[in-house]
Amino acid sequence: MKRQVMVDRCVCHDVPFTTLLQWATDRTSTTVNDVRDTFGCSSSCGMCRRYIEEALSTGCAKVPLRLQQERAE
Ligand code: FES
Repeated sequence: MKRQVMVDRCVCHDVPFTTLLQWATDRTSTTVNDVRDTFGCSSSCGMCRRYIEEALSTGCAKVPLRLQQERAE
């Protein structure tokens, strides 16, 4: 059985998505740029950006890891 790896935080800034989602519930709308400005997430390596977008849109604090597809030659 294949195990799905989940992303649940911004690693560079050690901020769990649960923290971001909890913070977002007190706001009328939240963008990744709002998260960046407040927590620093996505301002370093930037790898968490797409996962934060998905967490904010779905409300799920664990997002499946997506590896870049290899190009067909
Ligand atoms: S993992 Fe979030 S900026 Fe690097």
